[in-house]
Order: sequence, then C-alpha cells, then structure tokens
Amino acid sequence: MSPGVLRVPRAPRSPGPGLLAALLLAASGCDAPRGEPVAPPATPSSTTPRWRPSAAARPGAPPSATPSSGAAAAAAPSAGATPPPLAREALPASATPPPLGPVRAEPAGPVHLPEDAERWRALATLPITSAAPNAGGATLTLRLRLADGSRALFKPAQRHSASNHRAELVAYHLDRALGLGRVAVVVGTRLPRAALRAWLAERGAQAAWLARYDAELRDEAGWVEGALIDWHAGRLVALPMHARDAAALALPSAPEPSPEGGLPPPLDGGAAEGGAPPWSPARLAELSDLIVFDALLDNTDRWSGGNVLALGEQGPMIFLDNAAGLSRRSLGLERPPLRLAQRVCRWRRSTVAALRAFAPPSEGLGAWLARSLRGDPLALGVSAQQLAWVEQRAGLVLAQVERCLAREGEARVLPW
Ligand SMILES: Nc1ncnc2c1ncn2[C@@H]1O[C@H](COP(=O)(O)OP(=O)(O)O)[C@@H](O)[C@H]1O
Ligand SMILES: [Mg+2]
Repeated sequence: MSPGVLRVPRAPRSPGPGLLAALLLAASGCDAPRGEPVAPPATPSSTTPRWRPSAAARPGAPPSATPSSGAAAAAAPSAGATPPPLAREALPASATPPPLGPVRAEPAGPVHLPEDAERWRALATLPITSAAPNAGGATLTLRLRLADGSRALFKPAQRHSASNHRAELVAYHLDRALGLGRVAVVVGTRLPRAALRAWLAERGAQAAWLARYDAELRDEAGWVEGALIDWHAGRLVALPMHARDAAALALPSAPEPSPEGGLPPPLDGGAAEGGAPPWSPARLAELSDLIVFDALLDNTDRWSGGNVLALGEQGPMIFLDNAAGLSRRSLGLERPPLRLAQRVCRWRRSTVAALRAFAPPSEGLGAWLARSLRGDPLALGVSAQQLAWVEQRAGLVLAQVERCLAREGEARVLPW
C-alpha cells in the first residue's frame, strides 16, 4: 500500500487543568494471570470442504436439534458421527467491512490492510468446518477452522468479567479507524450452540471444559454470540514488557508520578530498571501505540501476563486479547489505562496524526466508530455512550500530546 496524505493538524480539545490534575494517579492495571501463547497454525487439511454460499442458513432462525432441510447443517449430530460444518446465518443487507480511517499513512503494524475486506467476508460467511477448545487463556475461547482452510478464534459471550466480546469487535474497528494495522479482522457472529458443542466434544474437549461451556456461555435462544477473530499467522511470543517500561516514554514534561506509587520517575533513555536491556526504538514506538490504544479502549488487562505479544521475538507487536476493554460503564478517567497514557510524552507521528484527524471539527471518533460498526453482521449493542467515551478519552490523550509538544518540541516528543 502506498503512503498517502496526512491531514493538516487541528487544534485539540483541552480537558482543563483541574481535570488533568485529577488524572495524575498511579497506573498499574492487572487482572488474573493469563495463558501463554500457543503454537503456530497447522497446515490446512486437504479434505477441507470447498466453500459455497450458505443458502440453507436463514436469518433469525434458531438452530434446530433435529435436522431439517433448512437447519440440517446447524443441528447437533448423532453420537459417534463426524459433525457437519456449521451453517451460518445469511448476512444482513447492511453487512460490510469497515472503512479504513481518514489518515492514509502506511500502517506501522503487520496486518495487511488491503486484504481486510476479503478476510472480513470469509469470516462473516464461510461455514465452520471444525471447532476445538483453545487452551491457555483464563476465559473460554475456541479455535475454529473455516471452509477455506483458514483459522479463527471465537471468543463467545460469557459470564467471565474480563471477556467482553464486543470490546474485541470495537478494538478491530478502532485499529482500522486509526490505521494501526495491529489487530486481526474481527466479525461479530452467532453460532448454533448445540452443533458447536458437538464439534468440541468430537475434538476431545474435556468434561470440565464442556461443563464450563454449558455453565458460562450466554445463550440466545440456541445461539452463541461472539467475536470471530482472524488467526495471526506466525509464532506468537509474549514480550517481557511491563507497564513500568512506559517510564522510557516519559519526559520531564510528563506529569509527576503520584506519591502512592505507580511508575518510577521518568527516564529519558529507554533503559528499563533492574539491568534489563533497553527496548529498541521500534519496540518503544509500539509500546507508545499500545498505550494509546488501550487508553482509548479502556482495556484494563494488558499487563497481567501474556497479553503483550509479537509475531516472533524480533517481529512486530500485535494488539491481541482486547476483551477487557470498555470494561466499565464510565468514561474511565480514574482508570489505569488512561492514567498510563497521561504519563507518556513520546508518541508515533502517524498515530498523533490519526488522533488529530478525528478531533473537531471532524465528525469525531465516536460517530466514525458507530458508522463503522453498523456494518457488522450483528450490529452489536455497543452503546453510543461507550463510543462517546472512547472519543473523550482520545481527546484527553491528544491533550497530553499537545502539552508535551508545547514544552519539549517535536524532535523529542515525536521521535518516530
Ligand atoms: N487471533 C489469534 N491468532 C493467533 N493466536 C491467538 C489468537 N487469538 C488468541 N490466540 C491465542 O490464544 C490465547 C488466548 O486468547 P486470548 O484472546 O488471550 O484469551 P484470554 O482472554 O482467555 O486470555 C492467546 O494468548 C494466543 O496465544
Ligand atoms: Mg490472553
């Protein structure tokens, strides 16, 4: 993809000194420890059925436990038989991949955005030819195989407090709005619960795992709603990065750490404490982007272990496991992700340009996301209020950027 034109920077909104002062608190979000990354994907099976449009699937029709002409593929199979592919609902007329954001710079991330629409359509329409439990995480996730042989992760709606499948969906749309290229394509979908369970049993799911499936997944009249997430090709490596490494992104102009603790005093060289090697400039730029991204999404589970990932030790960072985003029904002013961003004073130029492109008088990030999300097959229930909060948090991060720029100048504040 060729680089394009960046918008002319606009004046940011400022939250005012009182509000900023209230934000200068410690930053250390954490939840329960999470699983380690998994092995690379297997090669697609040569027996994978060829895809054909799912004419049998009917919008709105719940799956039947008894095979019939319309819902046969969605029905639970008899014991011992290999389950058939899972049928999909027909796409609503409104379904469409999200637009790319207004800033047409080359994304720094590894996801190839020109392939987005194709992958989006595959995830939204292809029958699912197998499903197995995904080991490792604290929440219930499934590994699916699609009829084209590709793989996806299914994160279903469930009772676990840190698993909000809608946040995964918004994370994808937010990534594309900002042109980051670090989140795999995500489509909201509903799968037939009984037929899905049959596949899991067939693929050796343990009784305890199936018991969790029965108890923790939310049921919608026989369907399971969730986020279908494209699989990252390549080996996922958990980076030993911590929230305190953000100290390497601080400058004297950043807010002082609060007396209650949190980040160590600002460093200006990138050297981590405790003799650890300093992160490379490329990693620091990725960390800066990650902190912006999590602040906007209000993701409180980045630093609990295993959620800062790269495609190979030296490879690019990806933003995976965003289900703890949009986690509370509030703006999130007092929350660690935003507080962490407000300790930072070094940013990627193209990320700042993207934030500015959504500042007034543009339509705003909230309205953009609402429009973008409308194309999702489920048009999931992310409230306008939640999206307005995303926009407000973006304004607060941008205010921090402008404050740093005013004090330190572009060369120090926008080094990448
Ligand atoms: N899209 C994906 N591509 C490749 N691996 C994935 C993908 N999504 C999840 N995984 C693997 O599954 C693990 C668990 O998924 P995650 O989203 O972190 O769920 P949890 O919320 O349970 O931690 C991840 O650590 C990663 O190893
Ligand atoms: Mg995880």
